[in-house]
This record gives sequence, C-alpha cells and structure tokens, in this order.
Amino acid sequence: ANDVKDDIKHVLFSKEEIDAKITELANRIDEDYKGKDVLLVGVLKGAIMVMADLSRALKSHYTMDWMAVSSYGSGTKSSGVVRILKDLDTDLTGRDVLIVEDIIDSGLTLQWLQGNLKSRGAASVEICTLLRKPKSVKTDVEVKYVGWDIEPEFVVGYGLDFAERYRNLDCIATLAPHVYS
Ligand code: PRP
Ligand code: MN
Ligand code: MG
Repeated sequence: ANDVKDDIKHVLFSKEEIDAKITELANRIDEDYKGKDVLLVGVLKGAIMVMADLSRALKSHYTMDWMAVSSYGSGTKSSGVVRILKDLDTDLTGRDVLIVEDIIDSGLTLQWLQGNLKSRGAASVEICTLLRKPKSVKTDVEVKYVGWDIEPEFVVGYGLDFAERYRNLDCIATLAPHVYS
C-alpha cells in the first residue's frame, strides 16, 4: 500500500496538537463530573481514536460502551432519521452519559442520539466532540465539550474516514485533489 501521508493536502491538527486538546477536554470532564459514575458512549466508528485517547487521559473511574448508528436511506447522509446498527449493552437508568464523537457536521445524528438516550431514563446526556462545523450544523443540539470549531471542508484522519480510509492517520488533515479523481 502507498504511504497514507502522500494523500494529504494540509494538516489542520498535528498529533501533538490533538494530544494537548484531548488532555484539556479530559481535565474539564474530570472536574465537571467529580464524584459521578459516568458512562462514556462512543459512536462507531469515527469516535474510536477520540475515545481511546480521551479515556486514557481521564483520571477518575469511567465505564465505556459503544453504539453504531446509520442514517436511513442511501446517498443523503444525515437525513436525521437514524437506525441503530449496534446498541448499548448498558442499562442507562439514572446514569450520567457522555457521548463521545469525532465530528459534528449537520448535528442530526447527535440530536437523534441524545434524545434516544434520554428517553431510556438517563440522568444526564451530554456530548463531547473533537470537531464541529458550525456552518454545517442544522440543529440547536447543545454540545458541552468541543475541541475545535472548523470550516465546512472535508477532513480525515484520527478516526475520520473518506470511503473507510484514512482513519489511521495520526493527524487531522484535508485530502489532496488526486484522491477524489
Ligand atoms: C460521521 C461522524 C459523525 C457523523 C456526523 O460518521 O463520525 O458520527 O458522521 O454527521 P452529522 O453531524 O451530519 O450527523 P459516519 O456516519 O461517517 O460513520 P463513521 O463514524 O463510521 O465514519
Ligand atoms: Mn461517526
Ligand atoms: Mg464516516
């Protein structure tokens, strides 16, 4: 296989910048949830890297679970109608839940997910995302923890994919035009 980095146009955030941001978010989360028994819910597959690094940067006890969701219909991603592909194994009754995401684009996936988890009797359902595209967001979903707000350009790496590739990049970057042609 070719070197993944040959396909990069521009690095938005380096491994070191991501590490620093994750530590900053983890410190805030530890502080805000002091004494609470928090369940981290990672949204497959994009959130795997954020979850792996964030969870290890946290200093208190946390548990982790995972969901896989998919927008209904073909083509038009983020229709807002979501199907559960893999559900949680954890009973949410009375739990403080923190959804962990890599990116909020339209925000429709998360708006649905937050409502769905609240309806299961969770005490609280907050959101932590590494990236958000404010100009693309179509909902008023409240996000407690945001790493960076970015312009609405297509980014890959650190869990984020283009046609399932580039998730294994250690940085967050835009892709060179030759990748799309
Ligand atoms: C991406 C991303 C978020 C979601 C954001 O996931 O990881 O989960 O889209 O989009 P939205 O804010 O417009 O709803 P994707 O559906 O590509 O699946 P993946 O995580 O497996 O790549
Ligand atoms: Mn995702
Ligand atoms: Mg994706």
